[in-house]
Amino acid sequence: MKKNSNQFLALNSYPRVRMRRNRMQEFSRKLVRETNLSVDDLIYPIFVTYGNNKKEPIESMPNIYRFSLDLLDKEIDRVTSLGIPAIALFPKIKNDLKSPCGKESYNDKNLICESIRIAKKINPELGVICDVALDPFTNHGHDGIFYNDEIDNDKTIDILCKQAVVQAAAGCDVIAPSDMMDGRVGMIRDALDEEGFNNVQIMSYGAKYASAFYGPFRDAVGSLLTSSTKDKKSYQMDPANAEEALKEISLDLSEGADMIIIKPAMPYLDIIYRVKQEFKIPIYAYQVSGEYSMIMGAIKNNWLDEKKTIMESMIAFKRAGCNGIITYFAPYVAQELINQKDKKN
Ligand code: PBG
Repeated sequence: MKKNSNQFLALNSYPRVRMRRNRMQEFSRKLVRETNLSVDDLIYPIFVTYGNNKKEPIESMPNIYRFSLDLLDKEIDRVTSLGIPAIALFPKIKNDLKSPCGKESYNDKNLICESIRIAKKINPELGVICDVALDPFTNHGHDGIFYNDEIDNDKTIDILCKQAVVQAAAGCDVIAPSDMMDGRVGMIRDALDEEGFNNVQIMSYGAKYASAFYGPFRDAVGSLLTSSTKDKKSYQMDPANAEEALKEISLDLSEGADMIIIKPAMPYLDIIYRVKQEFKIPIYAYQVSGEYSMIMGAIKNNWLDEKKTIMESMIAFKRAGCNGIITYFAPYVAQELINQKDKKN
């Protein structure tokens, strides 16, 4: 039978085609589901601080704390028992250790190195990821150092390389440059290799935007910008740009990055999608502090449903194309995935 275009349309549309048929029952929704979330996708950021027996709440991040190192074991045991594969450690150091050039960053006994050693001792199999950037260590809160009133790219890289090496020596599995200096991935790769750390991975913050959504994090690590330059626009990316993210990432990859972070996540799903289409590489969404606080704020006010909102945000990152998610909700999500499995059995 010869079909004209109208007949063809009729065959492919209502009432013969009913999209809702596949959605009617849970078994069928499972069969047609295109994206899955698993505990293997999760990376949990943990804030560490100096002192003893400290579990300090972070005001702008409900349910998130800074732990002194003697309390790290409980948090790591919790993460381990939930099956989360990796953590990302972030330090809040004492103010008197901060300096214009952030030299505490490459002290091999600094807070972050000690926390790496402790974490690897408690559970050697738990992946440990650490930022390389100077903001927790500088007294002006920038990721790099000032020279002639600007953040100097190449002088900053020298310090970042030293920071990467002390962290690798302490046992860090994955170095995550989050500073956005040009050329740092390659230089860090060389510095690591020269010291024999050729198996230490680099997960670079390939596309990191100059975002307002980092506000609560800066509170958490005490890196409020105090200099006359109160933003990071000279090194972090303009939120208006997408093609530039592809260029940034291609450079990081050519310099030896093994994995890429895109950050923030929810307002940048288009970037995750485009990067995944362009490069067949492992990419991670960082659901940043401000995204966490926004969702938590609404949950605390009973404006949004806790479980549904958090789980929906996770699947959205996966659908956009990322391989994993760095999220402060990681333990919550892992527990929820366990609950869902228990319900099935
Ligand atoms: C440090 C760094 C920041 C975040 C991760 N690493 C802050 C910044 O760049 O100002 C933000 C993470 C978050 O908001 O959860 N460079």
